[in-house]
Amino acid sequence: MIPYKHEPFTDFSQEANKKAFEEALALVSQELGKDYPLVIGGKHVTTEDKIVSVNPANKEEIVGRVSKATQAHAEDAMQAAVTAFETWKFVNPSVRADVLFKAANIIRKRKHEFSAYLVKEAGKPWNEADADTAEAIDFLEYYARQMLVLKDGKKVESRPGEYNRYDYIPLGVGVIISPWNFPLAIMAGTAVAAIVAGNPILLKPASTTPVVAAKFVEVMEQAGLPAGVLNFIPGPGAEVGDYLVDHPKTRFISFTGSRDVGLRINERASKLNDGQIWLKRVIAEMGGKDTMVIDESADLDYAADMITKAAFGFSGQKCSACSRVVALDSVYDELLEKVVANTAKLSIGNPVDVTNNVGPVIDAAAFKKITSYFDIAKQEGRIAAGGTADDSTGFFVSPTVVADVQPTDRLMQEEIFGPVVAFTKAKDFKEAIAIANNTEYGLTGAVITQDRTNQEYARANFHVGNLYFNRGCTGAIVGYQPFGGFNMSGTDSKAGGPDYLTLHLQAKTTSEMF
Ligand code: SER
Repeated sequence: MIPYKHEPFTDFSQEANKKAFEEALALVSQELGKDYPLVIGGKHVTTEDKIVSVNPANKEEIVGRVSKATQAHAEDAMQAAVTAFETWKFVNPSVRADVLFKAANIIRKRKHEFSAYLVKEAGKPWNEADADTAEAIDFLEYYARQMLVLKDGKKVESRPGEYNRYDYIPLGVGVIISPWNFPLAIMAGTAVAAIVAGNPILLKPASTTPVVAAKFVEVMEQAGLPAGVLNFIPGPGAEVGDYLVDHPKTRFISFTGSRDVGLRINERASKLNDGQIWLKRVIAEMGGKDTMVIDESADLDYAADMITKAAFGFSGQKCSACSRVVALDSVYDELLEKVVANTAKLSIGNPVDVTNNVGPVIDAAAFKKITSYFDIAKQEGRIAAGGTADDSTGFFVSPTVVADVQPTDRLMQEEIFGPVVAFTKAKDFKEAIAIANNTEYGLTGAVITQDRTNQEYARANFHVGNLYFNRGCTGAIVGYQPFGGFNMSGTDSKAGGPDYLTLHLQAKTTSEMF
C-alpha cells in the first residue's frame, strides 16, 4: 500500500495545466442544465419538482436541475438504508475501503472536470476549486487507510485461559447534511467516513450546490458501492432534514453548516421518538469567528499576505476564514496599510477567468446578509477597503477591510461568512490573545510571530481547535492538520484526523474463556 500523501495542488502558471483546466471548463459548459435524479436503494428517481442550481457568478446560467425529495422519498430512502445495513455492516472493511480507493482514482482522473463544476456551481476561483477537489480525494484515500488501521480493533490484555478482543463495529444508518462551501470535499468526506465504517447513509447536500454532489454519487456507483448504501435525497431542510433528524431509525447525524442549524439539529436529535432504542450521535462542524494575531516581531509583509489570503480566499466563505485581526499597537497602522494595499490588487469577477481571484458569494441571501454589515461597519469602525457590492449579474461583494473596531463589536463577534475582515488593536500580547478568545466560537486561529515566548503563550492559551503559527488560518490538509473546533464551532470532531472514523463506530468487547 502506498503511504498516504496529500493530493498535490495544480500550478496554473504552467501553460499545460491552464489549458487542461480550460478544456474541463468547456466540457462542463456543454453539460450545464442537465437533470439529475434522486438515488434511493440504487434506483434513480426523477421528480417533477426540481432544485435549480444557478451559477452565483452569472444568475442566467443554470448549472443543473436536481430532483427534489419529499418526506415520502426520505422515508423510502431510510427503509432502503435500514435494509442495506444488514449486509453492508458485514462486508469486509478492506473491501469497503477498496470502494473508496477506486472512487479516489476516478476523481483523480477527472480532477479538473470536478473542479470546473465547483467554479460554475459554487463560484470558486480555480485554485480554490482545485483545492476542494484535492481535499475530496484526500478524504477518500485517508479514511480508507484509517479503516484498514481500525478493522482489527485495538489491543486489550488477556489473562491465561482467556481471550479478550476489542473490535469496532458500525453504528447504523447515518444522515449526512453537507454544506455548500466545500460542496465536494466536505460532502464527500462526511459521506465516505460513514460509509467505510459500515454505515449506509442518507445524503442531503446543500440546496445551492446539489449538482457536484450528484456527480460524486455517480462516482460511488461506478466504484461499486452496493445499492442502498448511499441514498441521495436533496431537499429542503425544514421538510427532509428535520424528518430524518427526528426519524427513530437514524443512528447518527453528521452535519456541517451554521451554528443555528447545528443547534437545532442537536436539540431535535436529543429527543427520544417512538420506536427509537438509542441515543443519536451528533457530529457537528459549525461556524467560526477566526482570529489572526500579529505581534511586533512579525514580518509585516508576510503577515499581510497571510491575512489577505485567509480573509478573502473563496470570498471568506469558510468557517476557517480570518474575520478578525488583532495587531499590537506598534504594528497596527503599518499592517493595516499593507492589507489594504493587497486588497486593492485583488481582481473581482467571474471565476471562469483565471485572472479573477475573488468570485461571487453563494446566493442572494448571502449577498444581503454580508452587505448588511457595511452600515454596521461604518458605525463601529471605518471601512478602509471595499464596502461595495454588485448583484446585477452575479452576487459580487468586494473584499472589505474594516479598521478600528472594538473587541465586543458585532463585526468582531458575529459570523458574517463573506469577504469582510475587522481590525482591532491590543496593547500587549496577553491582551491580544484575550481578545482572540473573546468569542463563542473556537475553530481556527493564527499567530504571526518570531517570538518563541509569545508563541508558547498562544499554544497554551489561544483556545481554538486549529491553531497555526506563521501561516494563515485556512487550508487544513487531510491527515496533516485534522480539522474541527471548540465551543460553538461544533463537536471538535476532527475531520481528516486519526479519531474521526471512530465517531462512526462503536466498540464491542468480547471475552472468551478456554
Ligand atoms: N478545512 C477548511 C480549511 O481549513 C475549512 O473547512 O480552510
